[in-house]
Amino acid sequence: MNLTIAPGVFDILPYGSPDDWRASHIWNYLESIIRQTALTYGFQEIRTPIFERTELFQRGVGATSDIVSKEMYTFTDKGGRSMSLRPEGTASVMRTFIENQMHQLAPIHKLFYIGPMFRYERSQAGRYRQHHQFGAEVIGSAAPEQDVELIDLLYTLYSRLGLKNLQVNINSIGDAETRIAFRKTLQDYFRNYYDELSADSKIRLEANPLRILDSKDPKDREIVQGAPLLQDFLNEECKDHFNTVQKHLKRLNIPFQLNATLVRGLDYYNKTVFEIIAGELGAQNSIAGGGRYDGLLKTLGGADLPATGFATGLERVIQTMLKQKVAIPKPYAPELFLIPLGDEAKDACLTILHELRQSGISAQMDFSSKKINKILQYANQIQASYVIVIGDNELKDGTVELKKMASGEKRPIPLHQIAQILRQEKQKELIY
Ligand code: HAM
Repeated sequence: MNLTIAPGVFDILPYGSPDDWRASHIWNYLESIIRQTALTYGFQEIRTPIFERTELFQRGVGATSDIVSKEMYTFTDKGGRSMSLRPEGTASVMRTFIENQMHQLAPIHKLFYIGPMFRYERSQAGRYRQHHQFGAEVIGSAAPEQDVELIDLLYTLYSRLGLKNLQVNINSIGDAETRIAFRKTLQDYFRNYYDELSADSKIRLEANPLRILDSKDPKDREIVQGAPLLQDFLNEECKDHFNTVQKHLKRLNIPFQLNATLVRGLDYYNKTVFEIIAGELGAQNSIAGGGRYDGLLKTLGGADLPATGFATGLERVIQTMLKQKVAIPKPYAPELFLIPLGDEAKDACLTILHELRQSGISAQMDFSSKKINKILQYANQIQASYVIVIGDNELKDGTVELKKMASGEKRPIPLHQIAQILRQEKQKELIY
């Protein structure tokens, strides 16, 4: 019997060492900054199920893409339907957009999501079988400025988190017409090197030769050096679009690099594509990817509306935050820990505890009645800011000692003023 966690997935934990990327307080912090930033840019949250009909991903992401052809978690449900855990979020957003006839509600839709995605990949550092994405999709705008707004949103998010030295790579893969012409030229070129291509690229040659351009295989990479360039096939409209994207990125001081072999691994893209790289991450260094996908909604049976979007991987963002040692708020710790001595004090403390929490103070109390040293040790472990011990005398006098755990300093305060005094202390901490 093996009851351990499945390979390639992980738990997000309430405590751990300070450099553990699986700490829940970092995830909560990141998600709160994401939500604030997305709302500032006018994006609204959308939530879709984590599984869909397999066909949605085959049609939406592309049956020849690696994530659909090799990496999907597919199963037959009890009704005999083929279902898959979502490997990405864009196809689901398109499906929900069509199904809820959202095109009738507004001319443009700016949507975001945060959630787990599933890919049966070879697991290694930075690559997991369940990972989490923050994704944003804009439906209804063909403007190059819209692509720029998305890159700007990502860049602002990363700056708010304190991340530095990120490399924004951009490219244009043109429209369908561009790619038909380019595909043929590319196939002719790669056929000359057929025997030297990797096994994967031999398959890609017929199915999707553009993917050979971003092959990681060293021999493929050598061959790619001499391959024809997509740029030479772009028509005027695609060139203008791409030039405008670059012009505005410069205007917003977002540093970027042109990368002629950036094609992305999903089949739905056209025109602008981009990826953001964090050097610290080693082999799995892409923290975000995205681009325009004007034809997808129509392919899935929806209105003929242009669309553009991105997704950023939260595991990799957090790993970069830790590697770059950015400031992260401290994990949860109670402001007050109450220690009752005796049954009467225990009853009184339960009421005080309830009232403190009603007034918004994070407090805990001891229910164990263990030796006081053991209880203090625990209060220290959970990093309580203050401790109050309440026994019969304190109840009679109506005065307790407020002990600051960091300094050990103690001072008497009236029992009925605990909440008020703790609020004042907190205020002082915020001022100094
Ligand atoms: P993607 O490039 O496949 O794009 O994934 C986006 C990001 O998710 C990657 O840059 C990476 O940070 C993270 N990621 C992907 N796979 C893994 C994994 N196995 N382990 C850890 N992190 C991973 C998409 O999914 C598109 N739907 C993005 C998009 C939205 N394009 C337009 N709209």
